[in-house]
Amino acid sequence: MSIIVTGAAGFIGSNFVLNWLNNNNEKVIALDKLTYAGNLENLKSVENNPNYAFAQGDIGDSTLLAKLFQEHQPRAIVNFAAESHVDRSIHGPDDFMQTNIIGTYRLLEEVRSFFNTLSDDAKTQFRFLHVSTDEVYGTLSASDPAFKETNQYEPNSPYSASKAASDHLVRAWHHTYGLPVLTTNCSNNYGPYHFPEKLIPLCILKALQGQDLPIYGDGQQIRDWLYVVDHCKGIATVLEKGAIGETYNIGGWNEKANLDVVHTLCDLLDELQPREDGKSYKDQITFVKDRPGHDRRYAIDATKISNELGWKPEETFETGIRKTVQWYLDNQDWVANVQSGEYQHWLNKNYS
Ligand code: NAD
Ligand code: TYD
Repeated sequence: MSIIVTGAAGFIGSNFVLNWLNNNNEKVIALDKLTYAGNLENLKSVENNPNYAFAQGDIGDSTLLAKLFQEHQPRAIVNFAAESHVDRSIHGPDDFMQTNIIGTYRLLEEVRSFFNTLSDDAKTQFRFLHVSTDEVYGTLSASDPAFKETNQYEPNSPYSASKAASDHLVRAWHHTYGLPVLTTNCSNNYGPYHFPEKLIPLCILKALQGQDLPIYGDGQQIRDWLYVVDHCKGIATVLEKGAIGETYNIGGWNEKANLDVVHTLCDLLDELQPREDGKSYKDQITFVKDRPGHDRRYAIDATKISNELGWKPEETFETGIRKTVQWYLDNQDWVANVQSGEYQHWLNKNYS
């Protein structure tokens, strides 16, 4: 038996592969286009594992997909592949439409062709799990209840609109063609291998490099934060026990304002790697121009996955964020490798 994981060299995909190989004796075929966000360093520790294979390619490449499915006869596909950064989607939505919408469509079509070749028994085992985001539900006011699976989709950014479109395609391929799909909508992840364009790793690295910590607007935007390994375990749980055609929200029950998150990072860095001048990293906090269309609050109601499938996050924000900061301090080589020319170009573009 084997599973194919797309977007496997990215932040969550790589954590999923590492966690899967630790807990299962089943082959994983990692597929990734290796965009700026894909990094084989993340998977270096398993490159000689006999249960692991890597294929470079695009989820929109039907020929490659057909070949991979024929060769490996997977019993499941877990689709992480996406353009994932809101700010980049504002500067240039094209890649988001191409991968998140057209790419998902081509992937669904190839999965459907493959699924139709399976025996009845293999068909009952087969699953297509689509990994999505809470951002498809739009934004909440301070007093609104958290997002449930039944909330209406109201995406506000090019990124969330493209993910919403992909979720709709997945739903339609189930209803129309009977593809056995599962969809997960998760809140903001944090943890090892997080590309430093996103708030938490960006601020850790900028703090250590003596640079400004850029807070958009008033810093009071709220996100629900989940440790990435908990997300990966949630996805594995849905893959194993989820009901076909259902959506499961995954979240950390952990809403925090951005400014509070950055204060926590500064406190941890003050403790673990104090500044040479004895001052706090908080002195580096700088308020910058807000993101256009910035969603004010996201919150996930994860009651369904907890009640129906028995999943709950294991890490608290305090334990998870401490592990994360320590990981970045311990993995300076990884950090140096991802801070390439292209990355500097992005920082200049977004923060100038
Ligand atoms: P990421 O940007 O770190 O990784 C995405 C990976 O997909 C990269 O390795 C990239 O090379 C690959 N990729 C991009 N286009 C591809 C294509 N056309 N074909 C094959 N591979 C391609 O993103 P992430 O944070 O790991 O997110 C993974 C998934 O989880 C995404 O679908 C995202 O929408 C979703 N998600 C992310 C978060 C979060 O907080 N990061 C939260 C909820 C859901
Ligand atoms: P981000 O990590 O980009 O995730 P998302 O936009 O998908 O939630 O951003 C998390 C929050 O942090 C979001 O409200 C935007 C804010 N933010 C900043 O204030 N400064 C920054 O430099 C970045 C990248 C994000």
